[in-house]
Amino acid sequence: MTDQVRTVVFPVAGHGTHFLPVTKASPKVMLPVLDKPLIQYAVEEAVASGAENLIFVTGRTSRAVADHFDRAIELEHRLVQAEKQDLLNVTRGTTPAHVRCLFVRQPRPLGLGHAVLCARAAIGGEPFAVVLADDLIAGSGGRPALAQLMDAFSWNHASVIGVQRVPADRTSLYGIVSVLAGDGRLHSIDAIVEKPHPSMAPSQLAVIGRYVFTPAILDALEKTPVGTDDQIQLTDAIARLLHSEGVYAYEYDGERFDCGTLLGYLQATVAYALRRPDLRRETRAHLSELLASGRLGPTSGDR
Ligand code: G1P
Repeated sequence: MTDQVRTVVFPVAGHGTHFLPVTKASPKVMLPVLDKPLIQYAVEEAVASGAENLIFVTGRTSRAVADHFDRAIELEHRLVQAEKQDLLNVTRGTTPAHVRCLFVRQPRPLGLGHAVLCARAAIGGEPFAVVLADDLIAGSGGRPALAQLMDAFSWNHASVIGVQRVPADRTSLYGIVSVLAGDGRLHSIDAIVEKPHPSMAPSQLAVIGRYVFTPAILDALEKTPVGTDDQIQLTDAIARLLHSEGVYAYEYDGERFDCGTLLGYLQATVAYALRRPDLRRETRAHLSELLASGRLGPTSGDR
């Protein structure tokens, strides 16, 4: 088995019910943080980590994802005529030329595990990664989170899952791992459970949407029955994989925003505006003004 991970699967069929009505006809992963959709950040992270084959697992509302990564010939033509080279580069640059995009349909919304299984034929027999675009991870200037996991994969030749410590009262939002031994950021997993109640959680190490798998996960998925929320859970297949192979958790370095929730999405937007040279000064000034005006003080409407 090769150590190189060239294929990344992006499940993009998720409904994003927290964002209705905006997600009624458009997928959650097309929500923009500033001027880029979440899925483009995810693709940029994957490509910066060495990915060459991008597999998008789509659903009924995902057409915009395929259009986003396709050429937009009429628009490009107009930008050429208007001599708007910068905008032309932005429009053409959604995927670099050496990258292949494949689109696989998930016929029914049967869960994250099912979405990954739908990509089986396109993945082939090589190791692959899975990236959940609503977990937006801003790199700390060094290697992207996915690249850090790929490094850990090549040291151990075993599946690696991105994790982060979460407050005890939030375990029911995540897959939670129990780990045996730790060596810095890398830990050997001995159990994993999907969204446990805080009283049942084996730890506070939560699975964040970055995974690198050996192909054996696909066999585990084939055997995984419907679990929590009547869905085929990727977490349950990982638990099954633990019977036959080692699986590691890696505490990646990077700031993660949960763009599957309105608050996380808002926080990401502010954080990314504060990082952008063309927006930083005015965003900071606006926030300072809000603070100084007292409009951020407690109100009776706070919940
Ligand atoms: C999914 C996974 C969960 C993981 C989470 C990370 O849940 O099932 O194990 O912790 O992504 O964002 P979802 O957020 O899709 O409900």
